[in-house]
Amino acid sequence: MALAGKVALITGAAQGLGKAFSEILLNNGAKVNLLDINTVTGKNTKLEFDRIYGAERTLFTSCDVTSETQLQEAFRTTMQTFGRLDVVCNNAGINNENKWEHSINVNLISVIRGTYLGFQYMSVERGGHGGVIINVASMAGLFPMSFGPVYSGSKHGVVGFSRSIAEITKLNNCGVRVNVLCPSITDTDILKTIASENNMGQFAHLANIAQKTMETVGILKPSLVAEGFLQLVTDTTKNGAVMRVTMNRGIDYHPYKQASL
Ligand SMILES: NC(=O)c1ccc[n+]([C@@H]2O[C@H](COP(=O)([O-])OP(=O)(O)OC[C@H]3O[C@@H](n4cnc5c(N)ncnc54)[C@H](O)[C@@H]3O)[C@@H](O)[C@H]2O)c1
Repeated sequence: MALAGKVALITGAAQGLGKAFSEILLNNGAKVNLLDINTVTGKNTKLEFDRIYGAERTLFTSCDVTSETQLQEAFRTTMQTFGRLDVVCNNAGINNENKWEHSINVNLISVIRGTYLGFQYMSVERGGHGGVIINVASMAGLFPMSFGPVYSGSKHGVVGFSRSIAEITKLNNCGVRVNVLCPSITDTDILKTIASENNMGQFAHLANIAQKTMETVGILKPSLVAEGFLQLVTDTTKNGAVMRVTMNRGIDYHPYKQASL
């Protein structure tokens, strides 16, 4: 999939991984609608991109992904501004074991809604051009995370939902691929939440396990995760793929055995 002239919508794009994903798409010629609940940082990120790529290449849309109307509106704005949609990345995510229902809302329910909206605008059968949806899970979506059961559960949900919906796309030929990205620990602001009692709630006393895990597995740079993201976007053979990005293996795919029920 060549990206020149293509249009992407990325949630949680103000900073961290979402910003890195936006940047790699911009470097490859795409236009991006940057969605984020953090309007101040989001607008600054757009200004930063304007200086490098030109103001017409991005849009910043203030959007809380847990609001159905705001997310719907953000998709509409993308179409109105850029006239098409080719790439959706449901990336916004939080780590909050205290407000755990909210974590499920942001990390899983919004990803499901963003996926359905992606189909609404990109499915060939609904007048779209086809495209690709990348849902951001985590290595915590493939293995248990002892200091974050709700975070891990929400990310397992993203993996299961995305793989299942990808199976459906193989049957209906709608022209939309769905892939999952599972980074290991990456150097972004979300890491600050691991030592925060406010975020970790009843699991705050396990912060030392989190710290040890970080020291053992190492901390990735967002740029490496963005390289993996680009591969999932552009490699049209990938649908239902679950990519891992880790310090010891780099970019690879999670091997699944054939399901036997
Ligand atoms: N950094 C890591 O170690 C790591 C590892 C695996 C997966 N992830 C996942 O990567 C994704 C991006 O996280 P990050 O590491 O860049 O963290 P981050 O905290 O730097 O960025 C998250 C972004 O999401 C935005 N956001 C939060 N709630 C939102 C909402 N309701 N609506 C819209 N935007 C919202 C934040 O404002 C922020 O800009 C998340 O889904 C996270 O779970 C991160």
